[in-house]
Amino acid sequence: MYKLIKQEGRAKRGELHTVHGVIQTPVFMNVGTAAAIKGAVASDDLEGIKTQVELSNTYHLHVRPGDEVIKKMGGLHKFMSWDKPILTDSGGFQVFSLASLRKIKEEGVYFQSHIDGRKIFMGPEESMRIQSNLASTIAMAFDECPSSKAERKYVQASVERTTRWLERCLRELSRLNAAEGTINKKQMLFGINQGAIFPDIRIEHAKILSQMELDGFAVGGLAVGESHDEMYYILEETVPYLPADKPTYLMGVGTPANILESVERGVDFFDCVYPSRNGRHGHLYTNQGKINLFNAKYELDERPIEEGCGCPACRRYSRGYIRHLLKAKEMLGMRLCVLHNLYFYNTMMEEIRNALDEGNFAAYKKRKLEGMSASL
Ligand code: GUN
Ligand code: ZN
Repeated sequence: MYKLIKQEGRAKRGELHTVHGVIQTPVFMNVGTAAAIKGAVASDDLEGIKTQVELSNTYHLHVRPGDEVIKKMGGLHKFMSWDKPILTDSGGFQVFSLASLRKIKEEGVYFQSHIDGRKIFMGPEESMRIQSNLASTIAMAFDECPSSKAERKYVQASVERTTRWLERCLRELSRLNAAEGTINKKQMLFGINQGAIFPDIRIEHAKILSQMELDGFAVGGLAVGESHDEMYYILEETVPYLPADKPTYLMGVGTPANILESVERGVDFFDCVYPSRNGRHGHLYTNQGKINLFNAKYELDERPIEEGCGCPACRRYSRGYIRHLLKAKEMLGMRLCVLHNLYFYNTMMEEIRNALDEGNFAAYKKRKLEGMSASL
């Protein structure tokens, strides 16, 4: 159940009540594709860096270790020892970005595994069965994400098929949620809006989705090659047609600036690999912009990554020491950088929520962007 607490313009402050606890929104979901946040970040670390929701991927976990294995191990929460909410992406997008020899048919997608070349079929029913075996808090609908360069005719036909797939997802998940042996019988389902950069196709699709019995609505198919301004324009056009009294999730986005701009346009769920991926490469977010710890000027720097930061890296270690760890390829270096970056993102979301609570999001956004403008 989603509770819309407050709105400032289109920006939403809300709460999603789930069987695994309450999610305060706007929220950034921390990406753990294969049931692990890359950079040797453990579940108890997540508790110390303000993580509210972990995100994993249907496709990866189906290929390895297999969703049947995870079901036998009691579901994803028990498997990775994380009892707060988990959202699983449906596999559609990952099949398009990772697998080879794809063939899209009405029934679903035929492809080869990127791990061992094994032939796999995944359609809406398979995706729901896998996500039900994983027993995530929130399942995502099985969709096709057309290229941002796809022709209008292709996009139109693809979106219509994604709608038919969504109807099949809904039917299959309600059957699974009522079935004997299902671990999470209250699994939620978010639908996904598509339509590349055609506002009228997006709007038409949003109207259809908003008539369906869904727990939330994602905007997919963005941040896949279009410009930031095109993405903001699509959000301005589309989000008003999605129910404001349900969560709005912008998939795979993005930089701190992208998040601030999208919150302003009504988005309240985000996920992105940037903080963990950048952390693994020594690129760190601060309120003054991004810094690269490989830069020689940090060799003798005794300051923390960011003065006043409460993350496990900044509370204890210097830039100079972490730079040494990175250069020596010590795992601890990556780990500390990922912890700092996730803490930075999760803290920014907390600041956004506080600003919305106090009715001064616009001023907060301006200040934050000005501070970071050095390197966004
Ligand atoms: N992650 C980022 N974009 C997308 C999308 O369009 N669909 C899905 N399923 N996942 C995504
Ligand atoms: Zn820090």
